[in-house]
Amino acid sequence: MKIELAIIGGTGFYHPKIMNNIYEIKIKTEYGEVQLAVGTFNDVYIAFLARHGGRHQLPPHRVNYRANIAALKELGVKRVLASTAVGSLQKDLFPGSLVIIDQFIDFTKHREHSFYNGENAGGVVHTDFTDPYCPQLRKSLKNVMIKKGIVFADRGTYICTEGPRYETPAEIKAFALWGADVVGMTNVPEVTLAREAGLCYANLSLVTNFAAGISPHALTHQEVVEVMREKINLIREIFMETMFSMPQDRECHCFIKEDYTLGQ
Ligand code: HPA
Repeated sequence: MKIELAIIGGTGFYHPKIMNNIYEIKIKTEYGEVQLAVGTFNDVYIAFLARHGGRHQLPPHRVNYRANIAALKELGVKRVLASTAVGSLQKDLFPGSLVIIDQFIDFTKHREHSFYNGENAGGVVHTDFTDPYCPQLRKSLKNVMIKKGIVFADRGTYICTEGPRYETPAEIKAFALWGADVVGMTNVPEVTLAREAGLCYANLSLVTNFAAGISPHALTHQEVVEVMREKINLIREIFMETMFSMPQDRECHCFIKEDYTLGQ
């Protein structure tokens, strides 16, 4: 069975819920085994992957990003919508705001960032990231959110930290000077591996808190989870509507590297 659409659920998004006929599958990849759910919506199969595991047991720096993306590729996935919880560096992006991310800054330190190690792609591979997120998926997300009357930011720069600790106020000040709008711990290398694998990938971030030093209080995982809980059904609806309102054909350049076979 080929499954072309996938959702990666971040913090607070552990179950696809509004899909039907849901069952769990395990996929073995050369990077490790991945457990994900498969279900139908409008009679079309969709894969759902909980990034942190179904019980939020994997911290951001321990997520096996390569195995996750390789597993989706193995299933035949072509398009991915991913959610992330983020802290805000901008006073007007308050908790509860939704942001369609369009750029990232990578501040991670110890992650496996590539499928290509110089031996398996007929040489060294340097992937273009001028447009890091699929423009067609971003546009579809935007259209759905406008149609639903949702207030959102249609662009934003995500800085990805290594975690699992939150940032210091000094780091947040520096990141803001660099042009970051929101901060999270998981979008890199998920987005970069997706591009290497030729997948269309877009991210919808939910601001769950003001970042350290902007927030009037110390940060807790609890507040992140609580804000996410309030918006999770909305995010599920946005993702499903986006999946089914998109043109069938991919009009982007995300799949330019599709010729490479992962892991060979
Ligand atoms: N920093 C890093 N990751 C996060 C935050 C934050 O403030 N909020 C939610 N995820």
